[in-house]
Amino acid sequence: MPEDAKKAWGGRFEGSLDAFVTRFGSSLPVDRAMWESDIRGSIAHVRMLAAQGIVPDADARAIEAGLAAVHADLAEGRFVFDDADEDIHMAIERALTARVGAVGGKLHTARSRNDQVATDARLHAKALALDLITGVAALQDSLLAVSDDHFGVVMPGYTHLQKAQPVLLSHHLLAYFWMFERDIARLRHARDAADVSPLGSAALAGTTFAVDRRMVAEELGFSDVIPNSLDAVSDRDFLLDLVYACSVAMMHLSRLCEELVLWSSDEFGFIVMDDGYATGSSIMPQKKNPDVAELVRGKTGRVYGDLVGLLTVMKGLPLAYNKDMQEDKEGVFDASSTLADCLAACAGMVATLTVVEDRMRVGAGGGFMAATDLADYLAANGVPFREAHEIVGRLVLECERSGRTLQELSLENLHAASPAFGADALSAVDLDAVVSRRGSEGGTGHEAVRAQLLLARDAASVTAQWIGSTKR
Ligand code: ARG
Repeated sequence: MPEDAKKAWGGRFEGSLDAFVTRFGSSLPVDRAMWESDIRGSIAHVRMLAAQGIVPDADARAIEAGLAAVHADLAEGRFVFDDADEDIHMAIERALTARVGAVGGKLHTARSRNDQVATDARLHAKALALDLITGVAALQDSLLAVSDDHFGVVMPGYTHLQKAQPVLLSHHLLAYFWMFERDIARLRHARDAADVSPLGSAALAGTTFAVDRRMVAEELGFSDVIPNSLDAVSDRDFLLDLVYACSVAMMHLSRLCEELVLWSSDEFGFIVMDDGYATGSSIMPQKKNPDVAELVRGKTGRVYGDLVGLLTVMKGLPLAYNKDMQEDKEGVFDASSTLADCLAACAGMVATLTVVEDRMRVGAGGGFMAATDLADYLAANGVPFREAHEIVGRLVLECERSGRTLQELSLENLHAASPAFGADALSAVDLDAVVSRRGSEGGTGHEAVRAQLLLARDAASVTAQWIGSTKR
């Protein structure tokens, strides 16, 4: 009698598993997170077994009641994990059998852990994607609120991190709104990719029992069944889609955080971080550091690592299941919990920061950003553009020498540079006018940004509706 007879494959073995290998081969510390999906999947499976006459109704009822009791133990923290269990699937089956006796052994009829783990991972991935979309939507709401509250505030727009043209702060923040809108689309795609049922594929080739895969799929809320049993147990594309979506979202958060770090520096002074989202220094009493933004930027690295890790695990695997695939979950869980935390951190940081409107406006007046508008004014009044460019270039030089901005020039100064400058020439350099002239669709003009805000609010309400109507 092997000492390790309780292993699910005990019959074939005379010796017991090496103690180190037991620990080495276990995925329990990671996959226990999927316990709820595992029990849901088992209940759907056993109901189908009974409906198809594969196990007697009374046995199925006993198993289902046992699973409900195990569910309660897990939910209420009473469940006792045993290090000898290889994974959450074995742990739950052991607890079930301990409760209901030998009949618990009928649960695994027409099923393999290969289609079981794929099912659990898909159910879990669908729930993760939905939670992440909810987190992205909350950050979008913060961005919309700041865009609304500070509508009309002008700030410098940059290319090459050099001042280029003034823009509305709302326009700048809405650029992030749309980036996150694409993240929602990617997360929805990842959820759709997970939304097909592998159950009934058994180990790799299907089963001799007359299973009803569609009944199980429907019960579990999957929109279809996977048509090929080999593909069903060996596909992890849906997890890759999810980690990729997480990676791109982290890249977006990292870009936002980089700007918040810059903006909160003394050099920019565009924003002040709320005390709740900044830390001090243990040696320099004056310091207020944007740690939260920096940490989000830094955590992007681990999520990219999770993506490359899983791509590499899957590379070169022959069909169908291979134990390598047990390495699929840790990175995905890490990526999604990291993103969830970073979304919450950013939503709070954006919602609580103080916008220093004056500093933004002063910044927008620097860098001679209205120079193009001044040249355009001349060109519109008949001066050849090349000549206009030359005239305005000289004015910029004059301002630079005398330490003035273009807005500080008088009408006389302008007229002296070119008689084509009329009485309305000062409006060519007025910051608000410079901004509002860029009224092309999607541009930074006040009216265009107002229209964009409406579009963004529509998109946000479409997402809110989708979240409300989507089951976990
Ligand atoms: N713990 C395993 C995993 O996560 C479950 C599947 C085991 N199947 C097998 N044939 N060893 O991949």
